[in-house]
Amino acid sequence: MLKFNKKISLPSILSRSLSGPASEQPKGGRPMTLILLGLVVVAGIVLLLPRPAPRLREVAISDEDLRQVVGRSRLPPTVRQRQPALAALGRALFRSSGLSPQSDRTCGSCHAIGSPPGQEVTATSTATAQHQVWQTAANAPDLAHLDADGWFGRDGRSDSLAAACLEALEDPQGMNGSRLAVLALVKQRFKDAYEEAFGAWPVNLAGIPEAGRPEPIQAKLPIEVAALGLATLGSFPLLDGILTQANQQHATPAIELSRRAFNFVPVPTQWSAAFASLSPEQQVSANQVYAKVGQALAAFLMDQVSDNSPYDRFAAQLLQGRSAQESLGQGFGATELAGLKLFHGPGQCQNCHSGPRFSDGLFHNIGLPQRGTDIAAGRAAGLQIALSDPFNCKGVYLAQSAEAITTACKSLRAASVDKEGREDLGAFRTPGLRNGAKRSSFMHDGRFTTVAEVMTYFNDLEGRPAIGTRDPQLHRLDLTDEEMAAIVRFLGALNSPARDLNPSQSAALNR
Ligand code: HEC
Ligand code: HEC
Repeated sequence: MLKFNKKISLPSILSRSLSGPASEQPKGGRPMTLILLGLVVVAGIVLLLPRPAPRLREVAISDEDLRQVVGRSRLPPTVRQRQPALAALGRALFRSSGLSPQSDRTCGSCHAIGSPPGQEVTATSTATAQHQVWQTAANAPDLAHLDADGWFGRDGRSDSLAAACLEALEDPQGMNGSRLAVLALVKQRFKDAYEEAFGAWPVNLAGIPEAGRPEPIQAKLPIEVAALGLATLGSFPLLDGILTQANQQHATPAIELSRRAFNFVPVPTQWSAAFASLSPEQQVSANQVYAKVGQALAAFLMDQVSDNSPYDRFAAQLLQGRSAQESLGQGFGATELAGLKLFHGPGQCQNCHSGPRFSDGLFHNIGLPQRGTDIAAGRAAGLQIALSDPFNCKGVYLAQSAEAITTACKSLRAASVDKEGREDLGAFRTPGLRNGAKRSSFMHDGRFTTVAEVMTYFNDLEGRPAIGTRDPQLHRLDLTDEEMAAIVRFLGALNSPARDLNPSQSAALNR
């Protein structure tokens, strides 16, 4: 995982520079009447003037300091042709229908990458298909440059990009598919490409059912984390509901809270029965092929870059030595620049949204209030899912991938040592902010529909946290409306369509 130094002194420089010399007192010693007369004139002028518009503070920061700030969000150099055969297969799968029982759904229905030029989907293009899909499509994260992160999913339930792709294939909120159906499709349409990338298709998979997957492993919150959850629940009616239900079911309230924190969607019985009908050796073979499908999708995603936003163009000019003023251009004007400074200064957004994707890759409880009746345990639940995932880096299926050994496994080992996980409760992974402003659904539960609403939340921090305790780095910001609008404009300047570093050469896979 990339590391970024969070302890930059900039905010203090900036907050110092905000209280400028404006508060100097006028010198005394003049006749009283003159002063009074002056005051009356000034008061008159002030009364006649229209009320001043909300201020946009000029955050004083030298171009040199700004270069340092901007340098930290520079994207890593792009690597071409890392795993071309895998990526070509992954690209074909990403665009392929038939991986989901919803026949027209592809990965690209929700994630706006991977389409041939000119045919890119936008995050809301499935609006007509089904409300549920629209909802999750609008909340689908940007997938470019993801491989730098150590955890995936908003609650960090996957410890590698490949595992996250496998999750997406079976997740009811994603493709809602089954691994045996994925295998059937790969065998039918992409067997040659698969064998070119990974070797022969296992013989013992002949004649297996066309759809099926196992029940997910029922993870639980550690008892002390669940107890902390009960103690910190922000909604009394919810607590009351949990106590009543626990009482009726003769369970402890902590167990009831843990059950609700995972909210597993049951697997259709014909699917679980079909998977159970395989011999243990066949199950292992099926999982092996399935894991490779995840590696192919991950290889494709690792070729997706998004590096030509108005902000990137501004940053490139600035880093070449031009002044901030000279570096302004199309889509990045004085307001976006003011927003950039506010983002790093009084807004303190970079405490968490730092680095090339504007994410520290870590988990924070930002204290959103309760919504609906779900328990948003966040990372506390995601970690338990990651630990029990057969496709995590400790499992046999993805253990051999170089990716897993270098970054993810380190994270998983470290995470499983930290048994307490108090800060994990209600914490979600800091989302990257590139290509975010285009969406129409924000936060893990999609509660906000505009970036402006998100901004207002961080400014006011209204409501009691749903669960756990709010990250102490957050406090009310008291930005003016204009300042918030400037930050929103800055976030809008982080949009850039993803491009594929290795557009497919294979006609067969480009169908
Ligand atoms: C119905 C919409 C939808 C479809 C279809 C879909 N996804 Fe997603 N995807 C999402 C949403 C929503 C999330 C965020 C879920 C979460 O982490 O809680 C997500 C998350 C992800 C992530 C993790 C991103 C991150 O920042 O950690 C990856 C990787 C991913 N999807 C890949 C895929 C692949 C590969 C496919 C096709 C096999 C796919 N998705 C299909 C909606 C979708
Ligand atoms: C303490 C860390 C922290 C700070 C400081 C912070 N954020 Fe966030 N931000 C997060 C986390 C964590 C989430 C995701 C919460 C969730 O999924 O429920 C988030 C979500 C967002 C989102 C929604 C993105 C999405 O994909 O849903 C935006 C936009 C955003 N933050 C912008 C900002 C801005 C602007 C600031 C400064 C005013 C800021 N953040 C300060 C941690 C932080």
